[in-house]
Amino acid sequence: MRMGVLTGGGDCPGLNAAIRAVVRKAEVSHADEVYGFRDGWRGVIDDIAMPLTIERCRGILPRGGTILGTSRTNPFKVDGGVERVLATIERRGIDAVVAIGGEGTLSAAWRLSELGLPVVGIPKTIDNDVNGTDVTIGFNTAVQVATEAIDRLHTTAESHDRVMVCEVMGRHVGWIALYAGLAAGAAVVLIPEEPFDVKTVCEHLSRRHAKGRYASIVVVAEGAKPVDGTLELPPPEIDEYDHERLGGIGTVVAREIESISGLEARVTMLGHVLRGGTPSAFDRMLATRFGIAAVDAAHDGDFGTIVGLHGQRVARVALADAVGELKRVPDELFQGISHIFLD
Ligand code: F6P
Repeated sequence: MRMGVLTGGGDCPGLNAAIRAVVRKAEVSHADEVYGFRDGWRGVIDDIAMPLTIERCRGILPRGGTILGTSRTNPFKVDGGVERVLATIERRGIDAVVAIGGEGTLSAAWRLSELGLPVVGIPKTIDNDVNGTDVTIGFNTAVQVATEAIDRLHTTAESHDRVMVCEVMGRHVGWIALYAGLAAGAAVVLIPEEPFDVKTVCEHLSRRHAKGRYASIVVVAEGAKPVDGTLELPPPEIDEYDHERLGGIGTVVAREIESISGLEARVTMLGHVLRGGTPSAFDRMLATRFGIAAVDAAHDGDFGTIVGLHGQRVARVALADAVGELKRVPDELFQGISHIFLD
């Protein structure tokens, strides 16, 4: 079999581990040929690919980023993009494409599969917002990095009796904010799924500090939403998948906390730090298992699917069921945990 592999969307730790697993499984178990397309779907549109071998993939397992490069290019938004994708696959004699991506890249994969592209998806994103899998590649590392950073904010917050606002990624969902916030003992976690009123946040912080508590940590996901009419945020830019480019809500929240509560506040924006660097052991294993499972699916002719973690098992899920709707933090999880631990 001749296989193509690509990484699309925002990068995350573990992409190289997934590429390596695809190549090793394909070469060792099936003597397949593997080509890596550059920069996500853009490399397929423009037909830019490189041969990938076990030799070429040596040493990449612990490396962050992606040796293939990535982009947010959407073939459905490029003039003739879809026809060019299909023509590249035909011309190169590619029998299967493994698309490693988040919601945007996998949505394009699903629409292309409906048009006959033989594609299997691997879900990755630090945001953990892809349906059809308990967890995506990159999430575990991002939570670990955020937790360590918040632990560090705690000690400086204590020295100065300050409120430290920590902004983390999470455009539409609050998985990173919730997990890292709870793991690091935050006082407040603000996530896109639960609109917040900054006045209520301030009352909570003031009560806390009045009880003699020092050092409050407020973790805010970049996509957190104020209750309508309570806080003005600057309008974001929009990318090719109609995604908002966010960042900066932490500064607005910190300013409001200072002016309403009188408590001294500082802001730290973790941003792309969460996407960079070496993957955790968990993400390396997850990526490796997903890579192997994607090659198995391709050899079974089970296209139009993604591989996902379901409990301890790696299972296949129809792309149609994985995309379209994001996997959000369920209300009962947020409420159930937050009223006990966020105080
Ligand atoms: O990878 C997803 C994500 O981390 C979002 O949380 C964030 O809004 C976005 O990427 C930012 O990506 P970029 O700056 O690369 O466009």
